[in-house]
Amino acid sequence: MSESFELIRGRREPEAPALTKPRAFIKSYGCQMNVYDAERMGDILALEGYDVADSAAAADLVLLNTCHIREKASEKVFSELGRLRALKQARRDAGRDMLIGVAGCVAQAEGREIMRRQSAVDLVVGPQSYHRLPDLLRQARRGGPVADTDFPVEDKFAELPQPTERQIRQRGVSAFVTVQEGCDKFCSFCVVPYTRGAEFSRPIAQVVADVERLARAGVREVTLLGQNVNAYHGKDEHGRACSLGRLIRRLADIPGIARLRYTTSHPADMDEELIAAHRDVPALMPYLHLPIQSGSDRVLAAMNRKHSAAYYLAIVDEVRASRPDIALSSDFIVGFPGESETDFEATLSLVAAVGYAGAFSFKYSSRPGTPGAERSDQVAEPCKEERLGRLQALIDEQRQAFNAGTVGRIVNVLAEKAGRHPGQIAGRTPYLQAIHFDGPTELIGEVVPVEIVATGPNSLSGRRVDERHSAGECPN
Ligand code: 5AD
Ligand code: SF4
Repeated sequence: MSESFELIRGRREPEAPALTKPRAFIKSYGCQMNVYDAERMGDILALEGYDVADSAAAADLVLLNTCHIREKASEKVFSELGRLRALKQARRDAGRDMLIGVAGCVAQAEGREIMRRQSAVDLVVGPQSYHRLPDLLRQARRGGPVADTDFPVEDKFAELPQPTERQIRQRGVSAFVTVQEGCDKFCSFCVVPYTRGAEFSRPIAQVVADVERLARAGVREVTLLGQNVNAYHGKDEHGRACSLGRLIRRLADIPGIARLRYTTSHPADMDEELIAAHRDVPALMPYLHLPIQSGSDRVLAAMNRKHSAAYYLAIVDEVRASRPDIALSSDFIVGFPGESETDFEATLSLVAAVGYAGAFSFKYSSRPGTPGAERSDQVAEPCKEERLGRLQALIDEQRQAFNAGTVGRIVNVLAEKAGRHPGQIAGRTPYLQAIHFDGPTELIGEVVPVEIVATGPNSLSGRRVDERHSAGECPN
């Protein structure tokens, strides 16, 4: 059942017949899966007759695709809604209407609160029900607000429209494909199991068809997405569950697909097939984002992470044995309730032991409804701040060392788009480093050998080299 609110509001003036197509603006916050979802919502809106608007001010429909992971992310939504409310009023004064929709995880978690606090919102749609947008839009236009924060039984992915070749080409040569969604792990700090629901894996045939379509439209790199992507267990054509490692082998055979990546993984789900794929599948990039969150076993247990620091280090060893040049990244939370200085130092030691190419780190943010929020031993803000500073300094040092260690190497770069300066191309190395080099735009979509010549604060600079020079170097 949908939660559906048909509140009585002032009757709307009938809109003047539109001479041009209505325009929609989607603003996405948070993770890569939200980027993917926003693209799918864009596909739906295109079929509903919407053009893309350059800004909220120019839009007949504004959709905020929101993130609930930390308090700051959620707060942004309410301040953005305040701004949109003023825009909506200004458009109304000028005789045009604007629909405002809230999608994503804040919509899922706080749909009722949003409608109570912000009367300018016309529709609320959760991450598992956005395939119903056409219907919701019709209801909203009739004088909403409407909300749908269901976890519907029908398969959202089977219901979503396919992007056209033009839409795919506009989005570039590197694409995201969600293969798994939701999470059953229930880490005690995390809202994801509540906002995205239970773990679900898309059948192999569906994923293969999506990637084939992308490849036919010029996509060269696909990043497989899932909140717990390596828990993937989609059914094959015989109805048997298939691991992420096997899915990757299947996708690597698709003509045109030069590169595969996946994110985000849980250490407890790094199985042998996936680790072996890093050895055997050249298209699988030597990069692994493997969050551990803390280096202290006491904190890991309190976080309900289901693995120890030693287990994580053993996985890292296995992955490195399989693919020695792999670049590692992680997520860390500092100041989880009860974290002592000794616990925090264990995190610093773990970072020192692993040697990351980069990592994300966050101050613990208490999320309503999670077990962590109930705890009475919350860590004081200044302490979290101080620990975050120390951790980030160490991670940054490692990132710079990793980047510096690649200077002078010749690596294959996927040319993704025009660079910031004329005549420049921007792309990524196999290790996900952003890099720019001089070259014509015709190179976009090609994988070209590039010598890394220098590191900068945000990206590396490189020089294209002759194909012959790359022989025997990084195959990716
Ligand atoms: N507070 C701080 N960071 C969090 N993350 C998830 N929940 C919280 C929280 N309550 C971080 C974790 C996760 C990443 C996506 O966000 O590190 O891996
Ligand atoms: Fe959240 Fe990841 Fe833990 Fe799942 S495994 S609860 S998504 S942090």
